[in-house]
Amino acid sequence: MYGITGANGQLGRLVINNLLAMVPANQIIAVTRHPARLEEFAVQGVQLREGDFNEPALLPVAFMGVKRLLIISTDDLTGGNRSEQHGQAIRAAKEAGVEHLFYTSAVNPDPDSENPLKRDHGLTENHLKESGLKWTALRNNIYGDGLAGMLQPSLSNGKFFIPQGEGKTGYVAREDCARVAALILAGKPDLSGPVDITGPEALSYRDLGQRISEVLGKSIEVEALSNAELQAHYISNGLPPEAAGGLVWINSMLAQGGFEVVSDTVKKVTGIDPTPVDVFLEPLKA
Ligand SMILES: NC(=O)c1ccc[n+]([C@@H]2O[C@H](COP(=O)([O-])OP(=O)(O)OC[C@H]3O[C@@H](n4cnc5c(N)ncnc54)[C@H](OP(=O)(O)O)[C@@H]3O)[C@@H](O)[C@H]2O)c1
Repeated sequence: MYGITGANGQLGRLVINNLLAMVPANQIIAVTRHPARLEEFAVQGVQLREGDFNEPALLPVAFMGVKRLLIISTDDLTGGNRSEQHGQAIRAAKEAGVEHLFYTSAVNPDPDSENPLKRDHGLTENHLKESGLKWTALRNNIYGDGLAGMLQPSLSNGKFFIPQGEGKTGYVAREDCARVAALILAGKPDLSGPVDITGPEALSYRDLGQRISEVLGKSIEVEALSNAELQAHYISNGLPPEAAGGLVWINSMLAQGGFEVVSDTVKKVTGIDPTPVDVFLEPLKA
């Protein structure tokens, strides 16, 4: 039996859709906080179970019968709670008799990092190791799907305002991550340990400026700003202050580096080339 937590999330739904093409539906258990939203899978024969990492006492029941469990990391970035949520899920999985854990981690996780993204995944990978179970960390690089939306406020009057720092990122499509996760969960192939899942190349913000020029077919001037200047620019471009602050945070974090990881996992596991970055930039034409 195959289990997937976070089944109602964007990645969870894509993983289930991919998995349905590989294993019988009655061998899939979809665990979510919102089972009522997954009727489309129930009618195909997928078992739905309620599961919330904030209610760990109920999780062993949700995981009962599962042998291979994909734990999708939560989106709860408040208060450093996430690695503890994942730890609860891992302990419950062990209690329920799960044999092999799969976890959606990130490239270069680091339990000692000040960056909560890297720290949460690093701490969770420690929980995986401590579980004594077989484990696989699906280390997804940053999704490229939202790239156009993320960069659009940085563009105005032929200029592209970027954060300071030359860090590069190997942007990957969520769909590619889902296809790889489903195949590995199904044991095709049966991989253990950390697996980097990335796009085909790593690009800095300066590189992205060049790519945007090519995609738009016109020259874009790149200018690096301090975080305060970037924030002021986003606000002048119509973003509310909180959203502007969040965007500065993510852009400056990526510019500082640590995501310059490129692997051939997508091609090796799926047989399909990973989605090129230019595809993510196409919406900027509109
Ligand atoms: N690589 C990247 O660039 C990137 C970007 C964004 C997010 N992520 C990470 O990848 C994960 C999956 O991405 P996504 O695109 O599917 O995100 P999403 O659509 O925002 O989904 C959020 C996920 O968090 C789960 N979740 C939230 N609170 C939970 C709780 N208390 N207990 C159990 N599950 C909980 C949700 O499960 P249910 O609603 O089904 O309960 C859902 O699967 C995210 O949650 C985040 O950790 C990675």
